[in-house]
Amino acid sequence: MKKILITGGAGYIGSHTAVVLAEAGLQPIILDDLSNSSEQVLDRLEEIIGEKPVFYKGDCNDRAIYEQIAQDHEISGVIHFAAYKAVGESTQFPLKYYRNNIGSLLVLLDFMQEKGIKDIVFSSSCTVYGQPEILPVTEETPRQEAESPYGNSKKICEDILVDFIKSKPGMRAIALRYFNPVGAHASAKIGELPNGTPNNLVPYITQTAAGIREKLTVFGDDYDTADGSCVRDFIHVMDLADAHMKALEYLSKQDLDFYDVFNVGTGKGDTVLGVIKTFEKVNELELNYQVGKRRPGDIEKIFADTKKINEVLHWQPSHSLEDSMRDSWNWQKSLS
Ligand code: NAD
Ligand code: WQD
Repeated sequence: MKKILITGGAGYIGSHTAVVLAEAGLQPIILDDLSNSSEQVLDRLEEIIGEKPVFYKGDCNDRAIYEQIAQDHEISGVIHFAAYKAVGESTQFPLKYYRNNIGSLLVLLDFMQEKGIKDIVFSSSCTVYGQPEILPVTEETPRQEAESPYGNSKKICEDILVDFIKSKPGMRAIALRYFNPVGAHASAKIGELPNGTPNNLVPYITQTAAGIREKLTVFGDDYDTADGSCVRDFIHVMDLADAHMKALEYLSKQDLDFYDVFNVGTGKGDTVLGVIKTFEKVNELELNYQVGKRRPGDIEKIFADTKKINEVLHWQPSHSLEDSMRDSWNWQKSLS
């Protein structure tokens, strides 16, 4: 059984990816410092996949933990999710973000090269595009100056991968640029666990519906969009997880010293107000919300051109926005 190291595998996207890998007959090996997740996720994974994943509690910046893992397991490939991701916090503590997000990639690449582990899938983000002039965004759309240290850390990590692969290390890498991940596993046993007040739209919606937050504020309805609210490309986390599986399969068939980048989205833009309406409709409830001011730094509209990932990785999303809103709500309800 092929063993895949998942850094940040106890987190939101990593835990769902562990399920997809296990169901495809691969063995997920999780490395996580639990800085933004809980050990309980491992019990939940056991309930879903029938076996507790091998877990190492440790910091991805610590070379010693990788040595331990390599002693215990023959690793075939790595998916590197571990990173800090709070955009606002990154402007307050840029060094914390640069140290963790960039430092961990450097330590990991060194380790992989030394041990002859060839394949890495890296978590990048549509944040690297900023506000694109032309929509939908393709992988060729120029990246823009980052709005935050978090966004910049993703750009820098992509650049590091490009330069590293150019040096012919005998490895292969794919960066996946995620659009807006939403939803949860259909069992409602795993999902997104935001720390404190959520910054992202969907956890804010579900926490408002659950009565944890009094009301949701829609950040602006005077944008140049169908209903005036911002447009995003909301991708179900299980579809996103599946894209990692496809990326690993594809990497293993490429020549060495290969690098490529793929958008992972649905290809469809939905407005914030449209998401709220869908949430209300599929879950048959009314959400307490008001329209407020624009949020500084927000992108007006962005959604992915998914032609490349559709054709090259043979990946297609299979969940609708309705599925995402139902699964997000079921997950939220399971928490109370
Ligand atoms: P998450 O916070 O739920 O998961 C990240 C996991 O990494 C957490 O479990 C955390 O404890 C762990 N971690 C962080 N630093 C670590 C370290 N040094 N050593 C070991 N473990 C560490 O976040 P997520 O939403 O699952 O995001 C996963 C990846 O996807 C991140 O790289 C993030 O930047 C990227 N991404 C996320 C989104 C999004 O909206 N969720 C969008 C685009 C890209
Ligand atoms: C979506 C839309 C808000 C909350 C962030 C990161 C980005 C990437 C994805 C990691 C926006 C609106 C939100 C609320 C609202 N992450 N909103 N009321 O801004 O697309 O991107 O997550 O790489 O880097 O910046 O996602 O969920 O914060 O917002 O009206 O209470 O919902 O204004 O239009 P965003 P988001």
